[in-house]
Amino acid sequence: MTNALKDRVALITGGTSGIGLACAQRFADEGATVIAFDLKETQDWKAFTTDYPSALFYSIDVTDGPAQKAAVAEIEAKFGAVDILVTAAGVREAGPITMVDQVQWERVININLNGTFLSAQAVLNGMMNKGKGSIITIASIEGLVANEGGGAYNASKGGVVLLSKNIAMDYGRKGVRCNAICPGFIETPMFDDIMNDSSMTDVRASIQNQVKLGRFGKPEEIAAAANFLASDEASYITGHSLVVDGGYTAGHSHGIVQMLGLG
Ligand SMILES: NC(=O)c1ccc[n+]([C@@H]2O[C@H](COP(=O)([O-])OP(=O)(O)OC[C@H]3O[C@@H](n4cnc5c(N)ncnc54)[C@H](O)[C@@H]3O)[C@@H](O)[C@H]2O)c1
Repeated sequence: MTNALKDRVALITGGTSGIGLACAQRFADEGATVIAFDLKETQDWKAFTTDYPSALFYSIDVTDGPAQKAAVAEIEAKFGAVDILVTAAGVREAGPITMVDQVQWERVININLNGTFLSAQAVLNGMMNKGKGSIITIASIEGLVANEGGGAYNASKGGVVLLSKNIAMDYGRKGVRCNAICPGFIETPMFDDIMNDSSMTDVRASIQNQVKLGRFGKPEEIAAAANFLASDEASYITGHSLVVDGGYTAGHSHGIVQMLGLG
């Protein structure tokens, strides 16, 4: 580790599980003070805080704008402005749009897209006053290309990608950078819930076959990208959507590399 985030205050939504927790771990390893907004403290989060007792947890639903603003005001009073925001809170559900009802549709849009908007809104004034900040949204490759049955999720993540570019445009002159990370298929509790269902065996194999590195990703590999974007190493990068997908979206596989002995 490089101590790249020494003295930074990092707020991570969805920080007690999966990608958010991996970011919390990496940022803490790099010297940051870490705060998670999430619905609940997981066992993994509790284990993490035994190593880093200064890490703070707030029980917050990201769809609750006033709650996020109140918590950020408390954090700012204690530590100063939030330097890094990662918006990893999210849900993946629903199906083709004739098969979902309005409640399911709105839940996905509300948590994934509206939640991202509300989290960014809560920290931006503090970042502007400080003249510096890095916002990293966890979008998805499914915000760039559609996935079968992904209706609400695709729409929510496509919205996150463009919202991130918009934040980069509107707040760049105030010193705030904003980038989206677009993960591919990453082994987290969310991934396991869907992919470990016995009905998904063939789908899982088909997806893995399209990943050019031949394997699913690890949450730590997304955290490594987030650490780069949060750090001063990325000081001239804003408005970018960074695909971290093992080559899944690089092109379509048709078995030719295997035929040629490369697979
Ligand atoms: N795992 C993947 O393959 C993958 C791929 C692309 C993008 N993503 C995105 O990465 C992010 C993290 O997903 P993950 O795979 O780590 O899943 P995860 O389920 O392990 O973590 C998601 C976290 O978000 C929290 N959360 C959900 N709704 C919330 C709400 N209303 N308020 C506050 N917290 C809430 C959950 O409690 C959980 O801790 C999500 O936005 C997801 O869409 C994941």
